[in-house]
Amino acid sequence: MQHKTPRYQVRIPDKYLRTSAAELGRLAAELKARLGSDLCILGHHYQSDEVIELADLAGDSLKLSQLAAQQDQARYIVFCGVHFMAESADILSSDEQVVILPNAQAGCNMADMADADGVAAALDELSAISGDARIVPITYVNSSAAIKAVTGRAGGACCTSSNVRNVFEWALAPKAAGGGGAEKILCVPDQHLGRNTAAAMGYGDDACAIYDPDLPNGGLSADDVARATFLLWKGFCYVHQRFTPAHVKAVRRRHAGIRVIVHPECPREVVRLADAAGSTEQIIRAIQQAPAGSKWAIGTESNLVNRLAKRYGDQFIRVLSDAPALCMTMHLINLPHVVWVLDNLAEGRVVNQVTVETDEARDAKLALDRMIAIKAVRDVTKGKPD
Ligand code: 13P
Ligand code: SF4
Repeated sequence: MQHKTPRYQVRIPDKYLRTSAAELGRLAAELKARLGSDLCILGHHYQSDEVIELADLAGDSLKLSQLAAQQDQARYIVFCGVHFMAESADILSSDEQVVILPNAQAGCNMADMADADGVAAALDELSAISGDARIVPITYVNSSAAIKAVTGRAGGACCTSSNVRNVFEWALAPKAAGGGGAEKILCVPDQHLGRNTAAAMGYGDDACAIYDPDLPNGGLSADDVARATFLLWKGFCYVHQRFTPAHVKAVRRRHAGIRVIVHPECPREVVRLADAAGSTEQIIRAIQQAPAGSKWAIGTESNLVNRLAKRYGDQFIRVLSDAPALCMTMHLINLPHVVWVLDNLAEGRVVNQVTVETDEARDAKLALDRMIAIKAVRDVTKGKPD
């Protein structure tokens, strides 16, 4: 029986914290060369430049998990991202591969706003007060493996911000047509992703109701549930929720002709004012395809936006707000922790392994596999909710 990784980080030896970034970079390159094809370092787009420079492959959370599954020659996958991403990589990679999170405390604040027991209880409660309506959970990949397992067992699927609309459409399609046969969707844990996607599908605000896990029946009456097609878990990402309509208006006033593109974890009022909304990969693609001289204000994490600004120096690119939007837990992964992990691997010691218990991994994989099987991913950046 495997055991879950504790979310507690031991203090790494002082020598790593005292060493300069340049020296740590040199050490990391040396250790990478020693570990050779046994090692693959994955870096999420929100990581700092110094970590991304070390990574063999960079991507969004889903792409990285799928890349992890393809690295069959690598015994060690060092995942520079947050805990739920490393869990997905462990679920999708082979049993022989070891997934390592360089700082065990690097969790996702939004993912931590829901727990598996709470989601199972919500499904029971909502089903009871709706007179047994078929409620299918759709779980954002930003969630624990335990919640993904509850989702898999309940006939639901995972989604990412790239494919969420297709997954919602699958869930609401009749079973006879290969869909999930849902009368209602329980969208966990990000309310904004759910609300923005419902709007993009043409549903009005009244089709959404917030499920508050701290209240009996989520704070919903039988009538509220009867009216709603989308039951939205009351979670949010603090990095994206901080963007406001005032930011959009201010940036437009200051930079004539600027285009605003935002992540769908931003509030509905921000997405409504933006020119486009899309996932991390979709935002990157929009910038890649834009002509020189384009002007962009981007409503997402600052490390990614600043890297895009450097890479596409012939465009004007800035964060939507004046203050930086940093994901503090992504920041817990840094060169000292990565070099500490590599140093240990080079000595034959595995530290900070992330493992998902076998039964949980099997059920979570059901939800991940259903998502992967839902094809025809729509490019959200081509349109936006009105
Ligand atoms: P991606 O799925 O685009 O990688 O996003 C993950 C995330 O944490 C967004 O805040
Ligand atoms: Fe989680 Fe938000 Fe950080 Fe993404 S940016 S990892 S959703 S806290």
